[in-house]
Amino acid sequence: MNADSRIDILLLGSGGREHAIAKKLSESPRCGTLYVAPGNGGTLEVGENVALDAEDPAAVADFARETGCGLVVIGPEAPLVVGVADAVREVGIPCFGPGAAGAQLEGSKRFSKELMARAGIPTASYGSFTDEESALAYVREQGAPVVVKADGLAAGKGVVVALTLDEALRAVHECFDGAFGSAGSTVVIEEMLTGPECTLLAFTDGKTVRPMATSQDHKRALEGDLGPNTGGMGVYSPVPIVTDEEHAEMCRILDETIAEAQREGIDFRGCLYGGFMLTPAGPKVIEYNARFGDPETEVLMPRLESDLVEVMLACAEQRLDEIELKWRDEWAVSVVLTSAGYPGSYEKGKAISGIDDAAAMEGVTVYHAGTAVNEDGEVVTSGGRVLDVTALGDTFEAARELAYAACDKIEFEGKTLRRDIGLRALRGRSAWEA
Ligand code: AMP
Ligand code: GLY
Repeated sequence: MNADSRIDILLLGSGGREHAIAKKLSESPRCGTLYVAPGNGGTLEVGENVALDAEDPAAVADFARETGCGLVVIGPEAPLVVGVADAVREVGIPCFGPGAAGAQLEGSKRFSKELMARAGIPTASYGSFTDEESALAYVREQGAPVVVKADGLAAGKGVVVALTLDEALRAVHECFDGAFGSAGSTVVIEEMLTGPECTLLAFTDGKTVRPMATSQDHKRALEGDLGPNTGGMGVYSPVPIVTDEEHAEMCRILDETIAEAQREGIDFRGCLYGGFMLTPAGPKVIEYNARFGDPETEVLMPRLESDLVEVMLACAEQRLDEIELKWRDEWAVSVVLTSAGYPGSYEKGKAISGIDDAAAMEGVTVYHAGTAVNEDGEVVTSGGRVLDVTALGDTFEAARELAYAACDKIEFEGKTLRRDIGLRALRGRSAWEA
């Protein structure tokens, strides 16, 4: 390799996902200077954090041009939806992340449901409404259980799985009443699906689709899948309960999604996130995201053997057909350490100890999510999800045990975690049938 093949890279975002992506990018011989905007206490160790408004398309494009970056990678959804990728491509810099049109797959539930209908992709039956009266009438006609979703981005809080008619009617009213701002001015009402959930992410250049490994998030705050929804409390990969037929069908659906987007003139270069429910009638799409999942990325990156710079550049330059992904044949389990109170209000600025001890364990990686470094150089908490502790193992159980042993080495005031990440999968498919 000659020095010329190194490129400087700008990565946008500040979560555990971005630390995992940053670390993987930095391990590539092709990675020059890695800028992370705004980054966190972990990305500092592998790159250079920069103060830049990641949601300002012109500011991002200018920064990338002025610093001579050869690749921009967009982590979170907000910059995608406002068209940061379009602005970067306009100045001639390869970008990993769809433009505003492709980001609609995540940014508008109505748009994604309509695209699925046009492509014949299996998903929950639904109605979409812009006035409260018609939405209420539809809910009464469908009866409970039923799922009520605000159309736009609502940081994971815009979905109510209503088990009673009263709950459903109240959820519709709250959407139109402005509980989710403009995200709730259109409401999607769906049939409730049942079965285990499974995430399948894919790299794509808008033509070729390369699925990653399966993973499964734990969205509820409390053990036993109780309590409020969160950004994710823990995750593992691969998902042992998925059958070969289900896996093939999820891959087919992601292929078909990109083929339909291409037919409709959408050039989707980045990560397509398929959120599936493995129903008795086969996998159905619950949602798409136009980016990597968080914490899913924290189990996928340590399992990925391929060079991430090469893969992301191939997506951005539409030559993904040249690349085959390689995965480590190991299990990964990641447990999220949160601040007490999350997903409600919580305190920040608590000193964290033991990260180095945990990270020194063989097979363990500690990704920073909500951390910062204070004036004294100490790593302190700065968010609800603080750290993602990922362990690799030859068996699912070994990875699980190692992840928890590593979690026990880390301390901060208010440290909170779920002790049952992966337990249900260990019990097998029947654990979802109760
Ligand atoms: P979403 O933001 O669309 O991913 O929804 C958040 C969570 O709500 C999902 O992870 C599911 O657990 C649940 N959910 C969403 N849609 C449905 C559905 N049609 N049937 C059952 N559960 C759903
Ligand atoms: N872990 C779920 C998501 O990233 O949307």
